[in-house]
Amino acid sequence: MLGRLNHIAIAVKDIKSASYTYREILGAKVSEPSDQIEHGVTVVFIELPNTKIELITPLGENSPISNFFIKNKNGGIHHICYEVKNIETAIINLTKKKYKLIGDNNPKIGAHGKPVIFLYPSDFYGTLIELQEE
Ligand code: CO
Repeated sequence: MLGRLNHIAIAVKDIKSASYTYREILGAKVSEPSDQIEHGVTVVFIELPNTKIELITPLGENSPISNFFIKNKNGGIHHICYEVKNIETAIINLTKKKYKLIGDNNPKIGAHGKPVIFLYPSDFYGTLIELQEE
């Protein structure tokens, strides 16, 4: 079912400072910050030759990533995103095997304009997993 690694998301407190570090210190190709109001995050995309990194920081008062900073004061790896050919097929496969999706059972449109779902870290060895349609 799994395809390529689409991105790794890193939660950061200060997205300007993190962007600077990736651009100026690590020499990566870093986008301007983009507010994703419907997801409650501001995102910076970092393009690497073989994958992407997303720096994410809370946007607004009820950001779904705010709680992450309670356990991870300085931020850290928040989730990894794998590609799947067909998101509906992935949902059917997983729910048949009794895995639950975070939120309702419908895919949302993610930061890349493609349908995504999130799976519980407790089911996948402590890692929050995002599946994104190719
Ligand atoms: Co993501």
